Amino acid sequence: MCIAAEIRWMRATARAALEAGWREGVTASGVGYRYTRPAPRYPEQFFWDSCFHAVAWSRLDPARARAELRTLVAAQRPDGLIGHTVFWGRPVRWSRAHLYNVVSRGDGATWTIQPPFLGWAWAEVAARSPDDPGFAAEGIAPIAAFHEWLERERGDGDGLVGILQPDESGMDASPAYDRPLGLRAHPRPGFLAVVRFNRRRRYRYRDVVADGGFHAVDVLVNTALALSWEGLARLGHPAARERAERVTRSLVDRLYDRSRGLFFAEGPDGRPLHVSTWAALAPLALDGLPDDIARRLVDEHLLHPRRYWLPYPVPSTSAEERTFRPGRIGRVAPRYWRGPTWLFSTVPLLIGMLRLGYRDAATDLVLRTARLVRRSGFREYYNPYSGEGLGAGPFATSAIALDALERVAAVS
Ligand code: GLC
Repeated sequence: MCIAAEIRWMRATARAALEAGWREGVTASGVGYRYTRPAPRYPEQFFWDSCFHAVAWSRLDPARARAELRTLVAAQRPDGLIGHTVFWGRPVRWSRAHLYNVVSRGDGATWTIQPPFLGWAWAEVAARSPDDPGFAAEGIAPIAAFHEWLERERGDGDGLVGILQPDESGMDASPAYDRPLGLRAHPRPGFLAVVRFNRRRRYRYRDVVADGGFHAVDVLVNTALALSWEGLARLGHPAARERAERVTRSLVDRLYDRSRGLFFAEGPDGRPLHVSTWAALAPLALDGLPDDIARRLVDEHLLHPRRYWLPYPVPSTSAEERTFRPGRIGRVAPRYWRGPTWLFSTVPLLIGMLRLGYRDAATDLVLRTARLVRRSGFREYYNPYSGEGLGAGPFATSAIALDALERVAAVS
């Protein structure tokens, strides 16, 4: 099957999935919202899902893409934070409030973060918005304010920022955090103790650190931050290029493991957490990553048939990891991000592959992804060997597969 034919089919499929997830309304306090919910099971606006939705929409209907991102920044607090989850028009369900990272029942959003892909998504959407020339500049102030919040509240002085719960990494049950969390790992019962600990401290990172709580310097969050600064540079922020370079340099200096050729998160004791998940490869997306490091990520890991290059790539955790679990055992689904393929990773990794000239592998990746979607539809995640669809569905965020195809078609 050729890319052009796949794109034709994928455009229709992606449009239907995004359309089905579209929500609009006005909150009781009069704020309008228009965004895509990931799935019926996830009715809220999720930060990084929304960034991917906007990029997917930008291939079909840029006005919706802009509305989605404008809605995300409309949820910004006066101090700059844009939360992990925004509850537009439907307050937190009290029965589930203990699970949400909120401080009080009336909160419109969580007090926690997700990988900050916003500057990148805004720049992508702006590039496809010739009919709305003001859109690019409009993003600069709110996104820069969010970056400054991250630096102020979470920064370590070298441009990198910390997380205080594993779900802030986007990869809720990531095996990278098994060692420091043990029985408190997501979604074990002990995880609620982590939430309670942080809620009592109003999710103030510095208080959580001072009081001995879990915290980490996560690769994916910091990669998204560098990419978001790169996006702000494209939007015209004068100091953003330098900030992106600083974060990228610190990622390399602090989180890159030269012997393994991978990036590892740093745990609460300051030591690296040696687990290979797709986050370990994510810095590939960064313009400023030295080529030799980027090539090792691709040659030794991404394209390795026993690590990440499985029949339906890219698995969320390397198949060589002890914790790797690709699919269901009986009827029991695997814990999140411990093996199955989520399509969230496709585009960030593809950006690096295309920058470095891995055109054949990039084509292979997007065609296999299209085959996966033809086989199982848009699902939350997939078994990387069989392609079986798992988790929530229909899952709008997987419509990012359209953007992946379009990127490869543009260079073919
Ligand atoms: C799960 C994922 C998270 C995602 C959310 C909505 O919680 O771990 O990354 O944002 O679902 O799709």
